[in-house]
Amino acid sequence: MAKITLSIIKADIGSIGGHIKPSQKLFEAVESHIKNKGKGLLIDYYIGFTGDDVAILSTHQKGVLAEPIHRLCWDALIVGTNVAKSQGLYGAGQDLLKDTFSGNVKGMGPAIAEMEIDERPAEPFLFFAADKTDPGAYNLPLYLSFTDPMHNAGLMLSPEIKKGFKFVIMDVNYTEADKIIELNSPEETYDIAALLRDPERFVVESVWSRATGEQAAVVSTTRLHNIAGKYVGKDDPVMLVRTQKDFPATGEILSPYAIAPYVAGFMRGSHAGPLMPVKKNSSISFFDGPPVVSCLAFCVKNGKLTEPADAFDQPFWDYIRNKASQKAEEIRRQGFYGQAMLPFTELEYTGIMETLNELEKRFKVRKK
Ligand code: 13P
Ligand code: 13P
Ligand code: MG
Ligand code: MG
Repeated sequence: MAKITLSIIKADIGSIGGHIKPSQKLFEAVESHIKNKGKGLLIDYYIGFTGDDVAILSTHQKGVLAEPIHRLCWDALIVGTNVAKSQGLYGAGQDLLKDTFSGNVKGMGPAIAEMEIDERPAEPFLFFAADKTDPGAYNLPLYLSFTDPMHNAGLMLSPEIKKGFKFVIMDVNYTEADKIIELNSPEETYDIAALLRDPERFVVESVWSRATGEQAAVVSTTRLHNIAGKYVGKDDPVMLVRTQKDFPATGEILSPYAIAPYVAGFMRGSHAGPLMPVKKNSSISFFDGPPVVSCLAFCVKNGKLTEPADAFDQPFWDYIRNKASQKAEEIRRQGFYGQAMLPFTELEYTGIMETLNELEKRFKVRKK
């Protein structure tokens, strides 16, 4: 088998009743476009939603950022947007920020996570999709799964995994082009931590095995406010992670999600809330949240996908969901105050800046 490419292209193109979930009609329109127009182009596909975001996972042999694949998905999202408009859905076409398609959807609004791989004899991988948060939400889980034996027993038990992993980290505040740094664990683990502690600025873009040079993970790094110049919605990132053998085991990748760490997002993309692991096709509710992440496990052979196994649909995660609910309720008790709401840098394009600018004029410096 030649190389195959796993592609996720994801966007919010409209939602029932606010920012909750897409309509059945919208979802079916996207799916039937991919099914009909993807013939001869895609080997296989899977479409799902997490909160108000629709994600198209496809397999093909066109490589990453391939025009025909991106055009197919862009057109499917346009078709879905038209349905959203016809049904009066909220935020129809929300993440489609540009009018004309030019080669690929990078910088146009949708989130992209793509990997070209040499298929292993058995090729298990995980498809993550999060809503009401931003790409930095994967920083802590990836750090723990790939560098910390408290979550990854393979770092102690497997000679290949012990060789460590290369992290490619992006400075997402730099908007002229991609600004990245490559750091190796274990030698540079503390440097990796020094960057990843600031998930609004530094985002893991990809992770690579040092034993084989093979790619283990890829994350969508889009920051919508950097494209639109104003707040249009949270970035709601997707991620692909290959597992087993020279990569962490599936359970080692899942392990850190038991922390339900506080991440940026939640109501109006402006608050902190716990990242709750949810089942596939889950919707959003409490305070437009909490931030959620779904994870579907697949195997792929010659580009053909198995049915998904829903990684967070298991009794253990009900317990974590209860804990995450408690964390959500607890931080909501302090409303807009302090750590419950994001710092100014994350709010800079919203009405609060106008208020602060007005108030600034009324400040007086008291004479000594
Ligand atoms: P195998 O021994 O089947 O590769 O499984 C190891 C493992 O991933 C258990 O967590
Ligand atoms: P989305 O980014 O998921 O559309 O959410 C926007 C929002 O403002 C929720 O309150
Ligand atoms: Mg939305
Ligand atoms: Mg969303």
